[in-house]
Amino acid sequence: MSFDDSIPTTASPEVEFISLSHLNPSTELAPIPARGIDLAYFRRYVRALEDGGYDYTLLPYGSGTADSFVVASAVGQLTERIRPIVALRPNTTPPTVGAQKLATLDQLTEGRAVVHLISGGSDAEQARQGDYLPKNRRYARTSEYIDVMRRSWTEPAPFDHEGEFYKFDGFGPGFAPYESPIPISIGGQSDEAFAVGGAKADIFSFWGEPLADLRSEIDRVHDIARAAGRTTLPRIWVTFRPIIARTDALAWEKAHEYVAKVAATFTKFGINRQGEPQNAGSQRALAFAERSELYDRALWTKTAAVTNAAGASTALVGSPETVAAAILDYVDQGASLVSIRGYDTLADAVDYGKYILPLVRQEIAHRRATGRRSGFQAQHPGNYAPEYAQLATAGQS
Ligand SMILES: Cc1cc2nc3c(=O)[nH]c(=O)nc-3n(C[C@H](O)[C@H](O)[C@H](O)COP(=O)(O)O)c2cc1C
Repeated sequence: MSFDDSIPTTASPEVEFISLSHLNPSTELAPIPARGIDLAYFRRYVRALEDGGYDYTLLPYGSGTADSFVVASAVGQLTERIRPIVALRPNTTPPTVGAQKLATLDQLTEGRAVVHLISGGSDAEQARQGDYLPKNRRYARTSEYIDVMRRSWTEPAPFDHEGEFYKFDGFGPGFAPYESPIPISIGGQSDEAFAVGGAKADIFSFWGEPLADLRSEIDRVHDIARAAGRTTLPRIWVTFRPIIARTDALAWEKAHEYVAKVAATFTKFGINRQGEPQNAGSQRALAFAERSELYDRALWTKTAAVTNAAGASTALVGSPETVAAAILDYVDQGASLVSIRGYDTLADAVDYGKYILPLVRQEIAHRRATGRRSGFQAQHPGNYAPEYAQLATAGQS
């Protein structure tokens, strides 16, 4: 296979890794019907991320989950280096209070706080906490939320605000972040998400998509950012659920076993019978799954199909080398933040730290030192070689 070792013009020169903090040992493979925090497990999990060399961990938010701010504060105190990303739905917290909570977290972690703004992908879920705005209005509110939050962090004197969603008098100066501005990320794939994220976010996040589709979505976000007059474009975050084993063949055995277990879990709890999801991100993932099970070097969509793409659900399957090479394909398209979270949550977090992060970082270091790509991606072709697709379909009825 011929390989062009020049670094693509779209490539990000850096990559940072994100995980997601789990609070107890329940997984989609083996659900434990308990809802609480297993403190010993949580401590181990967060330590594993720190020791494994991750850069960030996401604290997700839902109406029935633990509170992401409180958990983020605990992450901050249990670690020295990784940055907690607080998933925050604007409907739950006024923007001056959100700014205050984030600045507090940022001070408590000496500058490690990040916020991921979730406008809400389901009307029913939003209504559980009294939010009855339709989705396009929720994004308009997020846009105003960002403006107020940033002003709350920086305005040196009291200020008034009268917008479409928020009104107050004489707020400020607010409690300030530790040193620099707190990065704001946007989750969502609807047109409104692109409009707000492109114009205002520091980070724009995706679930794992085929490379060509992701590339055009990155262009779309960046075009919106440029049209808004920005010179610093949003960083790109992409999320996967890798399934790895020593070889591609063993990884595929595991993948087939996992998808059966995950499907059984979702069927048992009725999560995959909720009709068409309202959020564009899940709709996109399901459309990709319908088009093909396998894309590019190692992207597998069956995990999305059996879960109704509820949450991040597209997998990368293969040996650590194949999956690392696939991650580098996304870095080549411009992703600089890569979220990887497995189905066997804690064991996978440890394995990725041992076997995947170093491979990706080694390639980035090689590029930095030589100005060229190494042969690593050429040596681990995954689905770019014919045997891989046979492994992917082997053992399936
Ligand atoms: C990386 C990432 C993380 C997300 N985390 C959450 C979360 O913690 N809670 C949540 O309700 N939605 C989460 N979402 C989902 C979307 O942000 C949400 O459905 C969106 O606000 C509306 O979707 P849409 O713009 O795709 O239609 C996440 C999305 C992405 C891409």
